[in-house]
Amino acid sequence: MSTETAQSILEVDLGAIVANWRALQTRHPSGPTAAVIKADGYGLGAPQIAAALHAAGCRHFFVAYLNEAFAVRALVPNAMLAVLGGLIPGTEDAYVANDLIPVLGSLDEIDRWRGREAILHVDTGMSRLGLDARELGILAQDQSRLDGLTIRYILSHLVSSEVPDDPVNQLQRQRFAAIRAMLPLAPTSLANSSGIFLGPDFASDLARPGAALYGINPTPGQPNPMRCVLRLSVRVLAVRDIPTGASVGYNATWIATRPSRIATAALGYADGFHRSLSGRGSACFDGTPVPLVGRVSMDLTTFDVTDHPAVQPGCWLDLLGPHLSPDDVAKAAGTNGYEVLTSLGRRFHRVYRTA
Ligand SMILES: Cc1ncc(COP(=O)(O)O)c(C=O)c1O
Repeated sequence: MSTETAQSILEVDLGAIVANWRALQTRHPSGPTAAVIKADGYGLGAPQIAAALHAAGCRHFFVAYLNEAFAVRALVPNAMLAVLGGLIPGTEDAYVANDLIPVLGSLDEIDRWRGREAILHVDTGMSRLGLDARELGILAQDQSRLDGLTIRYILSHLVSSEVPDDPVNQLQRQRFAAIRAMLPLAPTSLANSSGIFLGPDFASDLARPGAALYGINPTPGQPNPMRCVLRLSVRVLAVRDIPTGASVGYNATWIATRPSRIATAALGYADGFHRSLSGRGSACFDGTPVPLVGRVSMDLTTFDVTDHPAVQPGCWLDLLGPHLSPDDVAKAAGTNGYEVLTSLGRRFHRVYRTA
């Protein structure tokens, strides 16, 4: 598929992702800033993003699963590539063979790890992965279980960092400090994107942002300090005039209250454009919003372009971009920007820009 024949184009601005990484680095002077590139770089393309950030000097990367690490290992030479999901039994040799760092989250994982270096994940409030209080107590009593292990980082993950005055932030910070004191001295990794903006108390030896790299606002309710990194444009396939009283789309959820022009655009829920946007979302034409009307269907979405006579078949509507952020779309869809990005479908023609 080429840009000319594509029905939809997702442009990813790698230069803006690098600029966001540099901006986060400046805000986290206590240690380097890693890049979390799990879920295919939050849906935007892990290999391209990893290569661009590595060229810019990033030397710490995190993925969620082992298979994700295989896809980028060769693109980030001499960089730490860590797998957040822990050490599934039987995968130990693959870690060693591919120079991957497991993020160990249980005593069993520690006992099974046959490599030298690892990250220790400690649970300070998420109750998902990470050594819990009982296991930490055992480890503190018998530190010989860590013999031969180089702890690259002791890591914990914040539960509510995007809500700065949530008391759980301070609670987790205190628990993290206490746990750290029980374990052998090692560097720490705490802040995710929003954690970086919680201030110096949450600084550590390695920040781990994902969302903010990709332009999601790490400070909800405040102006977004990050650059927009993407633009999603889709073709208008048809434009039709309908009379007052005509319905649009499945189940006739929208009825024209005036003679209207309806543009049908080439995307739907099969492209990760959430069905919950039905009757709530919008697109952008030439920088101005056009309302989504009726149901989002699998491949098609309809917009009321009555006030936009320039919209014609073949022209482009923007569904994400500088005027319509992932956070805006998330709000209309009843989700978060993370889900908007990681839902982005496989039918878009993807273009990567470096400048
Ligand atoms: C353990 C861990 N660290 C860091 C991140 C990155 O978080 P964010 O995308 O909010 O910056 C994630 C993402 O969910 C995570 O699970």
